Amino acid sequence: MSLAMNWRAAALGLLLVAGGALAADGAPAKAASGHASTRAPGHAAIASANFHATEAGLEVLAMGGNAFDAAVAVAATLSIVEPESSGIGGGFMAVLHRASDGHNVFIDARETAPAAVDAQDYLNPDGSPNRDTALKGPLSAGIPGEPAGLVLIAKRYGRLPLKQSLAPAIRIAREGFEPDERLREAIAGMQKDLQRWPASTAKYLPGGKPPAAGVIWKDPDQARTLELIASHGDQGFYHGETAQKLVAAVRAAGGNWTLADLASYRAKERTPITVDYRGYRIVTAPPPSSGGVAIAEILNILSGYDLTKMDAATRTHYVIEAMRRAFRDHNDYLGDPDFVKMPLDMLLSPFYADGLRQSILPDRATPSSMLPRAEAVEPGMHTTHFSIIDADGNMAAVTSTVNYTMGSSFVAEGTGVLLNDEMDDFALVPNKPNVYGLLGSKANAPVGGKRMLSSMSPSIVIGADRTAVIGSPGGSTIITQVLEGILHFIDGESARQIAAHKRFHHQYLPDVVNVEAGVFDAAASDALTKMGYTLKSREPWGFMNVVTWDRKTNQLDAASDPRRPSGLGKVQ
Ligand code: DON
Repeated sequence: MSLAMNWRAAALGLLLVAGGALAADGAPAKAASGHASTRAPGHAAIASANFHATEAGLEVLAMGGNAFDAAVAVAATLSIVEPESSGIGGGFMAVLHRASDGHNVFIDARETAPAAVDAQDYLNPDGSPNRDTALKGPLSAGIPGEPAGLVLIAKRYGRLPLKQSLAPAIRIAREGFEPDERLREAIAGMQKDLQRWPASTAKYLPGGKPPAAGVIWKDPDQARTLELIASHGDQGFYHGETAQKLVAAVRAAGGNWTLADLASYRAKERTPITVDYRGYRIVTAPPPSSGGVAIAEILNILSGYDLTKMDAATRTHYVIEAMRRAFRDHNDYLGDPDFVKMPLDMLLSPFYADGLRQSILPDRATPSSMLPRAEAVEPGMHTTHFSIIDADGNMAAVTSTVNYTMGSSFVAEGTGVLLNDEMDDFALVPNKPNVYGLLGSKANAPVGGKRMLSSMSPSIVIGADRTAVIGSPGGSTIITQVLEGILHFIDGESARQIAAHKRFHHQYLPDVVNVEAGVFDAAASDALTKMGYTLKSREPWGFMNVVTWDRKTNQLDAASDPRRPSGLGKVQ
């Protein structure tokens, strides 16, 4: 315990020193050099969580679309075939790279809290957190961002009209598809919740039961909603018929959305976070994601060590300690940049990382501080990530979510739209963990119109000879999966190796290291345990979809996480 206190005092002292140094010379985070694409690959690669979606993206490329049109097609198709993970009732975050001028942009299509949000709704009468309103039904749903985000991408970055890029999704919804095992299992797992709302029952439990293997399943209501978006853009969802149906359904079931909440929703373009590490530039997600800040902070800390010269246990020790410090800051500082002032210059500064590095002991774990212990539950891998490189070298890294499995379980009658349960990503009750065991502060308190903090970390890693587009679902583990994927890519691994690589995860609290079977050999496990780490084995997690481009050989690779057989990475 005394070590924890000493460390905390030391870290606080260093934090003040770093802050002072920055205030004195006003130096921003270090300017990164990066590399521009030198030539186009001439062919394309897509990796996503579902073969229908990968094929839809390739179909749109074949129509003359670019990576951004393909991203619209993949996301909309996932809304039909992988509704347990993402959809037009949810939101996404994306990092795009435009080859023609090297422009990198972050698309923030994150949900917002409705104006009438009331923190009391998420408390039981005795003041304890009400996990049901936070995770189920209309009160758990934020105003969807995905439709606006797709319209923005198509208009500003795509080549094709939405009618073309949404066509494959609409066709699949109209003609039908076979729900795969993951979807059937997700519906069976959420059956009790889905049964609470008639439109959810009608859509997901035809005949009162989850769909059986081999049935063909159609989604005409969602097809119609997508057609309205295809014809009218934002107007097709946030105004008129769809908006009226959404608000009527939400309010009839005890929610508080208004037409004004929908009409005022905007997807936003933001400047991505960039960080340089071992000759690579990583372009990743800024707030309202915590992912990019954490990844940058971790890489800045690690850049003070030569990990390649260390044995597995020592290398892992430094990576875990960097994770611990980044997650501590995540809990304390981060939220929606339109609502909270965050010390990003400090968090992203190499001087701040220097200070944190000084607080890491070479031979043992630093116990996490004395914040209340947060118990994470297993995140179902129900969020989705896809990665695209097109023939011109345009790239899209997109992570999309309805939050927990099947989102709120609430379908808005007549729209086919399954609403998210993203409100739980706010710190609804201060210092009480959300479903991923994450604690939050005032920075992430719910306020009308505010975006809830996310861990989604779509990223593009650009090196002189090699580039990767990478991301994964997994709640708080997204950040550590993407970080480990970036390190493995920089170590020279292929797309397939990166997606398959065994994982570990640490998030400050709980003060344990989650380990996938086989990630450490007996000697490394023993050494880490002796350093003071509590290793806790956990079922395999993640659903990474990654594409890579080797510019020297002009080879593209696409790989989907072997842990989840429904995915497909394909080069065309
Ligand atoms: O935005 C976030 O961080 C969460 N809503 C992501 C949820 C997730 O990854 C669930 N799947 N495992």
